Amino acid sequence: MKIEALQAIAKEIAECRKCRLWTMRLNPVPGDGNPNAKIMFIGEAPGYYEDIEGKPFVGAAGRLLNQLLMGLNREELFITNIVKCRPPNNRAPLFDEIAACAEYLDRQILIIKPKVIVCLGRYSTNYILKKSGIKIPNSIAKIRGRLFSIDYQGLRIFAIFTYHPAAALYNPSIRKYLVEDFKLIGEIIKNNL
Ligand code: URA
Ligand code: SF4
Repeated sequence: MKIEALQAIAKEIAECRKCRLWTMRLNPVPGDGNPNAKIMFIGEAPGYYEDIEGKPFVGAAGRLLNQLLMGLNREELFITNIVKCRPPNNRAPLFDEIAACAEYLDRQILIIKPKVIVCLGRYSTNYILKKSGIKIPNSIAKIRGRLFSIDYQGLRIFAIFTYHPAAALYNPSIRKYLVEDFKLIGEIIKNNL
């Protein structure tokens, strides 16, 4: 069963010491949502509130994500991050932390087998692109707004790469692109799933 397999991964994450971040976090944030989700959202790393609650996207970026999702119910999705423990002071995850942690994401994707993955921000975008054999662009602007079909660990998946919602909190001009990309996500769900 998918739910048991995901719980087993969450337990491994709770006991994980593969990188320095376990020493600084309060709670691991393995990810949350429907084990049968057709769509998976992949962010960067837990922040202050996520670390307290052990749940992804519950702070300011999460509130914006909820708005962007419009009618989409979070219970129908699976939401996680590329790095499962909070980096100190919300700094960006380091290369070795991503390298250590990403196997959990890979395994979550193989269990859930979503039809669509949405990468929020450049850390998850770059990781998924590289693993799918697609050239990494120097900015999200070059790949956002499009639907990709990728071969990910042998799974054929649709992928959308867009900005991180936190970017729109710092730079309001980004918000309109996020709104457009989430409209595209809504259309795909309506037509394909
Ligand atoms: N930002 C992220 O990338 N992930 C979260 O879970 C919260 C904020
Ligand atoms: Fe393990 Fe990932 Fe936490 Fe590092 S961030 S300790 S690899 S679960």
